[in-house]
Amino acid sequence: MEKLVSLCQRRGFIFPSSHIYGGLSGCWDYGPVGIELKRNVKEAWWRSIVQQRDDMVGVDTSILMNSKVWEASGHVTNFSDPLVECKDCHLRWRADDLKENKCPSCGGALTEERMFNTMFKTFIGPVEEDASVVYLRPETAQGMFVNFQNVVNTSRKRLPFGIAQQGKAFRNEITTGNFIFRSREFELMEFEYFVKPDTVEKWFDYWVEERFKWYLKLGIKKENLKLHQHPKERLAHYAHSCTDINYLFPHGWSELEGIVNRTDFDLKQHAAASGKSMEYFDDETKEHYVPYVVEPSVGVDRAILAFLCDAYEEEPDKDEIRVVFHFHPDLAPIKMAVLPLSRKENLAAFAKDVYATLRPCFTTQYDDTQSIGRRYRRQDELGTPYCVTIDFQSLEDNMATIRERDTMNQIRVPVPALKNTILAKLSGEDLFVLPEGGKIWKQESGG
Ligand code: GAP
Repeated sequence: MEKLVSLCQRRGFIFPSSHIYGGLSGCWDYGPVGIELKRNVKEAWWRSIVQQRDDMVGVDTSILMNSKVWEASGHVTNFSDPLVECKDCHLRWRADDLKENKCPSCGGALTEERMFNTMFKTFIGPVEEDASVVYLRPETAQGMFVNFQNVVNTSRKRLPFGIAQQGKAFRNEITTGNFIFRSREFELMEFEYFVKPDTVEKWFDYWVEERFKWYLKLGIKKENLKLHQHPKERLAHYAHSCTDINYLFPHGWSELEGIVNRTDFDLKQHAAASGKSMEYFDDETKEHYVPYVVEPSVGVDRAILAFLCDAYEEEPDKDEIRVVFHFHPDLAPIKMAVLPLSRKENLAAFAKDVYATLRPCFTTQYDDTQSIGRRYRRQDELGTPYCVTIDFQSLEDNMATIRERDTMNQIRVPVPALKNTILAKLSGEDLFVLPEGGKIWKQESGG
């Protein structure tokens, strides 16, 4: 984990928040490379969950909501973690995280457990009084539940269908840590899948399988993923049952995503508290009922940590170690880099032309500093799948070298074929399927 954190800072993936003031615990900033990775993770999820399905719609609801929402949803009463405090050093801990009944820091005795509500509270308007209390949402789910009828009425979706959302969530966690694994400000990707009550088990199993496959499709190794069924005593207040997709993080197996059967709990709570019907009319059976809900929910940042850990590799290369992120092409922050062999004027002009034609199609970097070997290593550390090298021969034969991150193999390709070749390779085509006029080039040492 230490190596990963340091590489992420050095290469512009993730920085501690407010770092010039010593940071703020549980908050992180994404840098120029990290934001590309984050956008790609969110985009991959949105495409697979919303855009490629007929039974799903997306929304973007407000972070601040009427506090009656959180009273009705049970969060004001129940969204709490058990807190204990060390009687000697006064550090605070989440009791259910502790293996022994003593302070992990100094070994001191602990106070009795008390429940600590982890919602952040603030005030709306200029007066700080009870009537103006609002909460920073701890989950995006409630924005989707309160919009259930709006979506049914405007989207003409029939059951089963889902409402999906991505957005910031805030939790005043008692303890944070393990880099971006547990933060106080983070982003969620979650959806509420509304179903006929007697079909909920079937849909629950369906979504556990679908979500597991999503991680595999994006390159996570199967041996690093497993399912974990929550024991009844560790279920959230709204959950009837929950299966987690766990990932083998550097700190051990931990929850990556939770898939929960929320039954009709939330819709019924809101119906009772607001006086507005949350019933659905089933045209097929001619019945009115409140749907059940299956909710798969994952933290964007936690997913990013899993993708970073899984892609990170240290490989022997001659006398050195090559550090590389083997990101899936859809997730790679930079898809390709254009590297002129020298800064000489005629070569630079040629390389900049190539860069200008490729940049509209891919997230591309132009890098002309240091030796070509160093530049390849730098791109490896960013997880860039392809480098395009322009050399003096390119000026004569109008061809360029494509170097592949994972194998370090190289092919020589006519410049006009670069765009389509890289597009094809990013979508999974083998590097050695050559375009017309292409040829195998040389292999970098150590590959
Ligand atoms: N709406 C359901 C819900 O919020 P949760 O299990 O509390 O369920 C869902 O959170 C997911 O959000 C978790 O599986 C995890 O990926 C992520 N998550 C939860 N708390 C987090 C935190 N403090 N920092 C980062 N990610 C967190």
